[in-house]
Order: sequence, then structure tokens, then C-alpha cells
Amino acid sequence: CGIVGYIGDKEATSVLIEGLSRLEYRGYDSAGIAVYDNGEVKVRKYKGRLSVLADNLEAEILTGKVGIGHTRWATHGEPSDRNAHPHTNVAGNIAVIHNGIIENYMKIKEWLIEEKGIEFKSETDTEVIAHLIDHFYEGDLLQAVFKTIEKMEGAYALGVICKEEPDKVIAVRKDSPLIIGLGEGENFIASDIPALLKYTRNMHLIENDEIVLLTKDEVKIFNELGQQMDREVFHVTWDAQAAEKEGYEHFMIKEIHEQPKGVSETLLRRLDKEDHIVLDGIKLTKEDLDKINKIYIVACGTAYHAGLVGRYAIEKFAKIPVEVDVASEFRYRDPFVDENTLFIAISQSGETLDTLAALREAKRKGARILSIVNVVGSSVARESDDVFYTWAGPEIAVASTKAYTTQLVAMYLVALHMAMTKGTLSQEEYKKIMAELKSMPEKVQRVLNNCDTIQHLADHQFNNESVFYMGRGVDVNVAHEGSLKLKEISYINSFAIAAGELKHGTIALIEDGTLVVALATQDKLYDKMLSNIQEVRARGAYVVGVAKEGNKEIEKTADVVLYIPDTMDELTPILSVIPLQLLAYYIAVARGCDVDKPKNLAKSVTVE
Ligand code: G6P
Repeated sequence: CGIVGYIGDKEATSVLIEGLSRLEYRGYDSAGIAVYDNGEVKVRKYKGRLSVLADNLEAEILTGKVGIGHTRWATHGEPSDRNAHPHTNVAGNIAVIHNGIIENYMKIKEWLIEEKGIEFKSETDTEVIAHLIDHFYEGDLLQAVFKTIEKMEGAYALGVICKEEPDKVIAVRKDSPLIIGLGEGENFIASDIPALLKYTRNMHLIENDEIVLLTKDEVKIFNELGQQMDREVFHVTWDAQAAEKEGYEHFMIKEIHEQPKGVSETLLRRLDKEDHIVLDGIKLTKEDLDKINKIYIVACGTAYHAGLVGRYAIEKFAKIPVEVDVASEFRYRDPFVDENTLFIAISQSGETLDTLAALREAKRKGARILSIVNVVGSSVARESDDVFYTWAGPEIAVASTKAYTTQLVAMYLVALHMAMTKGTLSQEEYKKIMAELKSMPEKVQRVLNNCDTIQHLADHQFNNESVFYMGRGVDVNVAHEGSLKLKEISYINSFAIAAGELKHGTIALIEDGTLVVALATQDKLYDKMLSNIQEVRARGAYVVGVAKEGNKEIEKTADVVLYIPDTMDELTPILSVIPLQLLAYYIAVARGCDVDKPKNLAKSVTVE
């Protein structure tokens, strides 16, 4: 989510809307503002893009010089007008915007309902904050906020205004970004620098557990003990565009680097203290699962490739037969779907029309629908019986990266959950796999630390007319994703095959200098892959191998080897896709392509 706040002599509404427009990359399912207008705190908030809010504000103007604004990426509660921020207390004199998660909000909410009889207006965790501040308010907003945050666990950045103290904005930071913009006779808060660059380049960077009191002429920063802190002025020299990308050149590379976080959020939020999987949105019982004799996984593009790995994981761990289909084909081949079928849809956006149409068809035939979706409250999620949300955060680049790795984690968790419910895996096996899964964020980071090698390789290999990707076992699925990444953003003709199929056709295309990317991460297929590498090398190919650290034999056959940390064969896709994403990215950059917005492609395809 993105947050902005203002206090000064300008019209707050226009400052807030301008600031929020720079933060839409942080979330865009709903937006809202609260402004101190004529003695009242007035709130306007709407589901949908920021433009919906802006259009509505043209009709119902809010005038005032103090306000807070928010653009949302749903976590608790679907996108809707009432779940949009700001949230208020019962009397509506206190308004709060929030970025992050209040982990103990259920406990606080129950207390507020039972002890204070409060009726909640939304399903968000944020609303409890407004009621708590109200509970502690005794004429001093700053003190009330201090007392409130003592009760809150989790990660959050807050902005608060209150009718009784219209000359103040209060902001808090705990594990979610927050900065203060310093003006002449005006001050600002924001989750990110780009929101404020139009107004000021002088900022205070706020540290964890700090609380800030802003008036139009003053900014006071306090630590959690209430002691006032000195802070230097940080002068921003970047332009707005660079700031949105946090200094990265493109959203795609920023999102590639966000994968350790996405993987860890998607995983850790689903594990209890004993590392058991807890899937809130999935209600499949043992009885339901025993009934299911077939699973279809259906998706498009990158999500389809995640489905291919999903099949492998479900068949391996939960021993249920799985078919994977591209959504645009599924409906037209009269699939065998009935009440004993589980249909799994995977979609980043949750709005891809082909996927949605396939889902509806499966539903009509009686299947139970489980979806793996990144956008909370999207159409696919709404029309499903069970939902697993990936926690990738908003993905802006058209070529999907962090959505894919979080979809993989989701597939592994769903497969393991099924396996444990059905009893097809022993406790010991489960523990081993789980320990490995938990090491993934750190291992993904290790692959990312090696991006210079890949950039160097790309700088020498960007001129190919065609590139082949090959692998065996689960590696083939990753080969498909690697190939898609390259063709999407670099416009190079790329192609993925099962290495065993080489000799049945594709090898005819290998000539001097042809680039072949060979995935050889599977221990039991390693020797076979080395033979395939030799076959293409003998015909002149330049081979980039991808292998586990320690498997050095490959260096004798491949021209270059990109290593991933050692892990069990079943889980390699989370790691092996990373060098392929980086290779595609750096090749596209070297070719001068528009990486984030490749020609002819759209992020979300809502036509059949
Ligand atoms: C489009 C995008 C792809 C994406 C596919 C499926 O083609 O360009 O990157 O993989 O749609 O999108 P979804 O939102 O359903 O995952």
C-alpha cells in the first residue's frame, strides 16, 4: 500500500491525489483520503484505481489544508469501498491510514467488540487502530497514538488526523517504510520518496519504532520511549522515475530482487509455530480429498508454467493424478470433469479471461474450484471455493517474475497440505521438505548475489537469433519459463524442449554458435543431461549450463555454468528460474528493449 499525508497552506486534496498517483505501483485496488474540512474530518474512499477517487472528488470537493491519503493493496478483506482507507472510529473524528499488517488485530477486535460494543464497518485490520486511538484519547492525539502502538504487534506505517487537533498529523513507523517531506510552512508524510518529489527534495528518513508529530511549521520525531530525536535532512537527488523503482533501472529487475521477500512471505505466513501448514482460505477436508480422483491445473503464460511444476509436486507428494492445461484449450477439448474433480486455477491478476472462462466451465460441470491468485478479491478469487493468495505484492513489469516464484511456493504448500491430509507423506519426509522450503529465501538471495556473472554473459550473448532451453524432469518446466521470459522481453526466437526429445527433431537446428541453455539440476538425470549437452556441443552449440553447486562434472561439457545452491531435486525450480530471469533481463537490456512494457503484450489479458 502507499500512504501520503499533508499539512500546510495548499489544498490537501490535490497534494494527496498527486502524491498517491506516484504510488500506484504499491497497490491499486482502492484509494481514499481524509481531509479536515470545515471543522469535520471528512472521508472519501472508493474501490478501484485512483482515478475513481479523483473523479468522485471532482463532484464532491473536499476543501482543507490537512489530510491523509492511501492507495491499497488488499491483505485483510477484499477490495471494496468500505475496506478502503482511511478508516475512522465510531464518531468519525479520528481517521487512520495504514500500510502493513497488524498481526494481533483479531484479539484487539474481539476485545473492542466485547468490552466496548463497537460495530466494525470494515473487514480490515486497520480499523482497530482508529478505535484504539479513540479509546485512549484524552485530549492529546500524540499520547493516544503512543498508547495505541504499545498494544499493536506487526509491521506498520501509520498516518493519523483528528478533528479535535486540526493542526497536527501524526505518523508512525514500524517495519514499513515512512519518510517525512520538509517544506516551507508545510510538511508531508509518505511511504515512499516519489510521492513527494513534486513538492520537496528535503526529507527526514524515519527509523523503526519512531513516532512523528507534524505541524505546518515543525516536525518532531520521538523514539518509542517518547524521547525527542535529532535527524539530519536527507536531500534527494534522484528523479521521480528512478525513485519509484527504488533505484533499479526497471520494475522487472526490482521485482526479480523482491523474490526472497515474496517467497518468504508466501511461505512463512502459512506456517504455525510447529511448521504445520495453515491455509485459511482452503477448506478442503480429508473427506473432500478422498473423493477427489483427478486434478486439473489450468492457467495461462507464466502461471501455466507454475502449474507444470504444481503437477509434479502434487503427483509426487499427494499421489493424485494431475493434468495441466492452458486455459484457452481446456474448454474446447471436453475435459472429463465431474464432482470428483478438483480444478486449480493459477493467475497473478485473477482477471485473465481465458482462465476465468475455463474456471466457469469446470464449475458448471461440478468441479470444486481452488485458485492461486496474487490480487485479493479479483474475479478468479471471488468465483472459487478455496483461495490461496500468493504474497508477491503488486507486480508491474509485464514479464512475470516474483508472481511465478510465489506461485511455485503456493503449489508446494498446497501439495504438501494435501499429502499430509491424505497421509501420503511421513512426518519425517515432511519435515525434511519443509526445512528445505524454509531455506529458499536465503538461497534465492544467494543466486541474486551472483547477477554480475549473468550480466557479463548476457553482454556477450545478446545477438543470437534463436536460443534453445532444455532440461529433464522438473527442469523442463523451468526451461519453458526461461524461454518465455527471453522471448517476451528480448524478441529473440526461443524454444524449450525436453532434452530427450532433441534427437527427434530439434537437434537439426543446432549449428555453430547456437546458444543452448541446459538445466541439469536433477541428481538422477544429471548424467543423461551431460550426454545431451555433449550432443549439442558436438554440433557447435555454445552451452550455458545450470547446475547445483558441487556438481562440477558439467564444467567439462558446458561452456559456462551458472550454479544454484544445493537443494532437493523437487524444489530446484524456485532457484533455477532465477538465473534464467536474470539472463533474459540482461539480454533484453543489452538489446535496448523496453523491458517493462514489451511490444504487443499486456500485463493482464481480459479478452479471449
Ligand atoms: C499475460 C501476461 C503474462 C501472464 C499471463 C497470465 O499474458 O503477459 O505475464 O503470465 O497473462 O496472467 P495471470 O494474471 O492470469 O497470471
